[in-house]
Amino acid sequence: MRKVTVVGAGNVGATCANVLAHKDIVNEIVLLDIQGDLARGKALDSWEQAPIDYYSTRITGTDDYSLTANSDIVVITAGVPRKPGMSRDDLITTNARIVKSVTQSIMQHSDNPIIIVVSNPLDVMTLAAWETSGLDSSRVFGMAGILDTARYRAFLAEALDVSPKDIQALLLGGHGDTMVPLPRYTTVSGIPVTDMIEADKLHAIVERTKKGGGELVQLMGTSAWYAPGAAAAQMVETILKDEKRIFPCCVRLTGQHGLSDIFLGLPVKLGRQGLEQIIELKLNEDELALLKASAEHVKKVIESYRQLDI
Ligand code: NAI
Ligand code: 2OP
Repeated sequence: MRKVTVVGAGNVGATCANVLAHKDIVNEIVLLDIQGDLARGKALDSWEQAPIDYYSTRITGTDDYSLTANSDIVVITAGVPRKPGMSRDDLITTNARIVKSVTQSIMQHSDNPIIIVVSNPLDVMTLAAWETSGLDSSRVFGMAGILDTARYRAFLAEALDVSPKDIQALLLGGHGDTMVPLPRYTTVSGIPVTDMIEADKLHAIVERTKKGGGELVQLMGTSAWYAPGAAAAQMVETILKDEKRIFPCCVRLTGQHGLSDIFLGLPVKLGRQGLEQIIELKLNEDELALLKASAEHVKKVIESYRQLDI
């Protein structure tokens, strides 16, 4: 029996639950929101899609945490998204309270779940969930790197007129404008991307990637959900299937690249035990400097979080 809870039945949570249901690898998905009827409605709608799209996953919508009991994995998407003009960091006061209370409620009903955090500001909300849960840090991590790398890969595929399937890429750091896309670790079916695209075009793509979330907020007045929901569902899939895939995820650092006491994006191996390995790259001087600058930024947001009275 595989059971997954998604907290937050808004744009990202409902998409994550729906994408996950389509994978047909989970027996039960519980979609929980303080807006109980919203969760019940979206769950019912997804269940009514099952005969059309051929999946067996049961989806239950609720505002009652007792229904989340014994979840293998919990995805936390509860919280407010940003509006035009806001940074992810501006969400901290509201979302820190939400993420802490959601984590407490989850832990009352599941003994040793794996928690995937999506709510922003992502790196600090992941830290908040980990501290609140009391779980080992191999069981609490955040989704950002898969989304940010997907944006980078999509922009490259468009510029090169190739399938996005053939772009392999890596990106480190915080989920914000200081993220660090890594051209040196980017290939097109094994061919270094720098052999395929002019330096100025690659630079423009890297810069667009860093502001990729903001581009969508400007267009829609709220943040993205299709790619974020699918990215979180991909993390659930690789864990439940014990695939041991390597993805950039937001994880607790314990000395990697000289950084500790921080959650930040690095490449990791995900499997049935959750976070099974953090991979430390041989970064050059410039890459390391960018990673450290990103860490400095996240540390400032952690300081703001510590000053909140919650
Ligand atoms: P949304 O507004 O569509 O949905 C959020 C849902 O959370 C709402 O339905 C709301 O009722 C619910 N909620 C609020 N407080 C709650 C509580 N205490 N318990 C249970 N549910 C609660 O927002 P959206 O677009 O789904 O985004 C959700 C979060 O994910 C935002 O913080 C956003 O910034 C973040 N995000 C993170 C990404 C990432 O890459 N890590 C990507 C996209 C969004
Ligand atoms: C995104 O990158 C807002 O974090 C969200 O789309």
